[in-house]
Amino acid sequence: MDNLSPNIGFELIRVTEATALSAGRWLGLGNKTKAHRTACDAMTEALKQVNMKGQIVIGEEGRLGGHSALDSGQPVGNGFGAEVDVIVDPIDGTSSVVQGRSRAISVVAVAPRGSMWRANPNAIYMDKIVVDREAADVLVPECLDAPAAWTLALIARAKGKAVRDLQVVVLERPRHADLIDEIRSAGARVLLRMDGDTAGALAAATPNVGADVLMGIGGVPEGVAAACAVRAMGGGMLARLAPQNSEEKAAVIEAGLGLHHIYTCSEMVTSNEIFLAATGITRGPLLDGVVYHGETARTHSLLIRSETGTRRMIRAEYHLPPEETDTF
Ligand code: FBP
Repeated sequence: MDNLSPNIGFELIRVTEATALSAGRWLGLGNKTKAHRTACDAMTEALKQVNMKGQIVIGEEGRLGGHSALDSGQPVGNGFGAEVDVIVDPIDGTSSVVQGRSRAISVVAVAPRGSMWRANPNAIYMDKIVVDREAADVLVPECLDAPAAWTLALIARAKGKAVRDLQVVVLERPRHADLIDEIRSAGARVLLRMDGDTAGALAAATPNVGADVLMGIGGVPEGVAAACAVRAMGGGMLARLAPQNSEEKAAVIEAGLGLHHIYTCSEMVTSNEIFLAATGITRGPLLDGVVYHGETARTHSLLIRSETGTRRMIRAEYHLPPEETDTF
């Protein structure tokens, strides 16, 4: 198998930039379907230029209504270069974009073919904990079942902080009511998010951006994308499938997936040759959102390469084609 060229990272950045530039036009306009469709179309086009023999392992799976070029199993790239697995998430936080809320991002990750977990589409939700490299070694499987106070005490000690100084990102969902109570009773602070647990995991895995831990149940695709980022940054992650009703549970069991298995990020992506690109669509703690100004636009992106541990922050400015300036 060919080694991945370091240049592939910059090619991936062009993909998430193009996607964010398209998706950002739907900021605050309330139309989730159109925002999603526009982002998927932009990502599909941009992926055609990337020098790789890619295959999508986590994609949109019929969310566009019928089959699409971004479903898992689809080939992507220009057909040259290394054979790779690809995760695409044109928008993590689609509701956030169309409701004008913060922290929506566009994400693509690649790793050598066969190294990413091909999560079964019947597996919809996972319970997750994510921390940065300072606390990576203290995560043990018991953390997923222990009272939050116990896990947070371990993390606080590893980070040299008091529990009351820990900031824990949790998606604001009814299913998290008990978890939120537990975290607050332990004395830590809860940062509630309406959407976007890939962005939450990225923040938790990045030192010193104001998020110490991500906890709770979010999507499986977002979990595998997060695993790429966490592994590439040397952080720690535990995850376990968490079906939310009896139908999902039956489907997961029928697909032969273990309900008790606890995945680490290294199990969800087994290679250390990972590239992950993310571009902000709306402003967040790590990435600014897209800014349009007449004939120009600006983006802010992140490129992570696991082999070297490099994390690049990239700002770009574009001159928009006249037809695009006219349309909006
Ligand atoms: P989309 O942008 O694809 O809608 O996902 C947003 C998201 O918040 C994910 O980050 C998260 O993993 C998932 O939805 C949680 O699902 P649900 O909204 O069903 O709780």
